[in-house]
Amino acid sequence: MSNRDLRRNAFAAEAAAARVAYARGDLDLAFHHLERAHVLGQPWAGAHSWAHWMMLRVGWRRRDWREVRGQVLRLAAGGLLSWMGRLPAGNTGGADVPPETPMPPPPDLAELCR
Ligand SMILES: [Fe+2]
Repeated sequence: MSNRDLRRNAFAAEAAAARVAYARGDLDLAFHHLERAHVLGQPWAGAHSWAHWMMLRVGWRRRDWREVRGQVLRLAAGGLLSWMGRLPAGNTGGADVPPETPMPPPPDLAELCR
C-alpha cells in the first residue's frame, strides 16, 4: 500500500473518530480528531473541506463566533488551496492558527505526512 493510501486511510480513521465524538457531544475530542484529520486530509480538496465544515459545526455548537468566522473563510479557500497544491504541512486548520503556516505534525503522523 502506498504512503498516499495509508494517509488516506488514516484520514478516514480520524474522520470516523471525529464523527463519533461529535455525535456524543464531546466537542473537545471531536475537534482534536478534526485537527488530525485536517493535517492528513489537506492533499484532497474534499477531505480538506470536510474537516473545515466539521470545525465550523463544532464552532457553531460552542457558539464560538471566532471559530465560525475562521472556518467560513477556510471553507471558502481550503478546497482551492488543496487543488493548487498549497499545503502547509502539519497545519491543524483551526481558527487559532494562520491558515497557510506550516506546523510540526503530530509525531505519530509525521511519517504519513512526508
Ligand atoms: Fe485548511
